[in-house]
Amino acid sequence: MKLDTRPIGVFDSGIGGLTVVKEIMDTLPNENIVYFGDTARVPYGSKSAETVTRFAKQNTRFLLTKNVKAIVVACNTASAFSLDELQNAFEIPVIGVIKPGANAAAKASKNKRIGIIGTEGTVNSRAYEKAIIKLLPDAKIYAYPCPLFVPIVEEGWANTKVSYMVAEEYLSQLKEKQIDALVMGCTHYPLLTKVVDDVLEHKVKLINPARETALELKRILNENCIENTIDNSAEYEYYVSDNPDKFKRVGGNFLEHDIINIRKIDIEK
Ligand code: SIN
Repeated sequence: MKLDTRPIGVFDSGIGGLTVVKEIMDTLPNENIVYFGDTARVPYGSKSAETVTRFAKQNTRFLLTKNVKAIVVACNTASAFSLDELQNAFEIPVIGVIKPGANAAAKASKNKRIGIIGTEGTVNSRAYEKAIIKLLPDAKIYAYPCPLFVPIVEEGWANTKVSYMVAEEYLSQLKEKQIDALVMGCTHYPLLTKVVDDVLEHKVKLINPARETALELKRILNENCIENTIDNSAEYEYYVSDNPDKFKRVGGNFLEHDIINIRKIDIEK
């Protein structure tokens, strides 16, 4: 087996992509990872496709300076708006979260009534909807933006009465749609799994695209013979465009362990 010790590059609009990093660490424990969180320009979810794609290209170029062998676009909004352009512009494999999430939802749903929650950008792009319809042409899709979920998670309020109140409000229409699968279509939402599950009365399968993306990455590394099979402790480097202290503090909740190796960079340079 050929080994490739170059790191995996992962980027997101900020801290949320660490939910994807966590799944990659669990699925591919030997792989080194370089993460970039664009904390100076977060959120991407309310920005135009053109702006998000410009940011996504800058982030990818930065990760390439770290000699990465593949890029994971952890941000749902950037995956929805920019994945095709990134795949065309760069030579290494670039993997987004939409297709893996859509595959998992299509597999999980028995009644073909599927919900999607995400940022305004992700929902308005209809990227999940189109990907699911390709797999299940007669599926009924119900998509709702939940913009307040991101600041709630970043504030550390994921399991408080505030999050329950907001979730009740956002999910009230979905509750009437008889969905049996729901795509948690934003990097932050896996931290609200318990809240969403409680509000939906444990009747709906919650799809975390992060988990499916890590499996897709594994498949692609294997297919390209660029896996790192050396069984020693992987190294993780983190870069942000602003506020490394907040990233360290809040990011620990996403990763469930301490963030050590972190630096601030100027992404626009
Ligand atoms: C955002 O930047 O608005 C949230 C990240 C995402 O879309 O997954």
